[in-house]
Amino acid sequence: MSQPPVSRETWHGDTAREGVPDTPIARAAHAAMEVRGHEDPWPRPKSCRVISVANQKGGVGKTTTTVNIAAALAMHGQRVLVVDLDPQGNASTALGMERDNQTRSIYHCLVEDEEIRKLAQPVPDIPNLWCAPATIDLAGAEIELVSLVAREARLKRAFAAYDTSDLDYILIDCPPSLGLLTVNAMVACDEVMIPIQCEYYALEGLGQLLRNVELVKSHLNTGLSITTILLTMYDGRTRLAQQVADEVRSHFGELVLDTLVPRSVRVSEAPSYAQSVMTYDPTSTGAVAYLEAAREIAFRAEGLNVG
Ligand SMILES: Nc1ncnc2c1ncn2[C@@H]1O[C@H](COP(=O)(O)OP(=O)(O)O)[C@@H](O)[C@H]1O
Ligand SMILES: [Mg+2]
Repeated sequence: MSQPPVSRETWHGDTAREGVPDTPIARAAHAAMEVRGHEDPWPRPKSCRVISVANQKGGVGKTTTTVNIAAALAMHGQRVLVVDLDPQGNASTALGMERDNQTRSIYHCLVEDEEIRKLAQPVPDIPNLWCAPATIDLAGAEIELVSLVAREARLKRAFAAYDTSDLDYILIDCPPSLGLLTVNAMVACDEVMIPIQCEYYALEGLGQLLRNVELVKSHLNTGLSITTILLTMYDGRTRLAQQVADEVRSHFGELVLDTLVPRSVRVSEAPSYAQSVMTYDPTSTGAVAYLEAAREIAFRAEGLNVG
């Protein structure tokens, strides 16, 4: 596949982060790419793909998926922005965002019309990756948004105010609810990615999520579709995990990525070092799985006519 050379221009227009910085994490990131051998650069979408990572259940792997898919895409030349829409701010923590009470966050963008580009920060040691962090104020946003004009479309407006032509992906980490924050994500995106944990009750509540996507699609965002389902925390030793995976595949067919993300201690350790597993332990099974999943997402775009 012939691709234009990967531009190293940053989203902020400077080139300070050009090349591979000589730090332990950057070297690890580089090592992860080396593990896969040399390959063609991944295709860049024609226009920025905006993907919400959603499931109203907590603990299914939304944040882990957002952070690691974003890191893997960025490590393969894609320019990626992570929007942390969960008041708990786990994605911001995992991506090493510095926050204090002065930090401008996605809350200020939604409620005070702050420019998203101004509050996004570059992710340490991963060139081409930025994060618009969440702060605890976001916990009040569900209520504050209620009285605002176009309350469901605040995030969409924030994206529209910017030329995103120098970004390839925006990944939105949704909170574990179907409230106004998640609705804002679904109105602002084109694609929904649903991580499903390979556990008992995995499919419970999924109907409600699908109905919500349909509601948003019919009333607020006709361009919305569920494009990707990722099976997470898969433990191949248990029959249950296999049964859940089979059931999800028979239900959702080709929406389900071939790659399964295994349960891996390294994946769960990484956030406490303010890192993605892609940099924390690039050769671990979890990192390799997220790299494969990200590759599928990047290459599938064409088949799905995205961008
Ligand atoms: N593949 C995995 N292997 C092991 N632990 C995982 C894996 N994926 C996620 N976890 C852990 O499971 C917990 C929930 O994951 P998280 O991504 O925070 O879910 P959500 O954002 O949906 O609430 C976290 O402690 C995370 O570190
Ligand atoms: Mg989360």
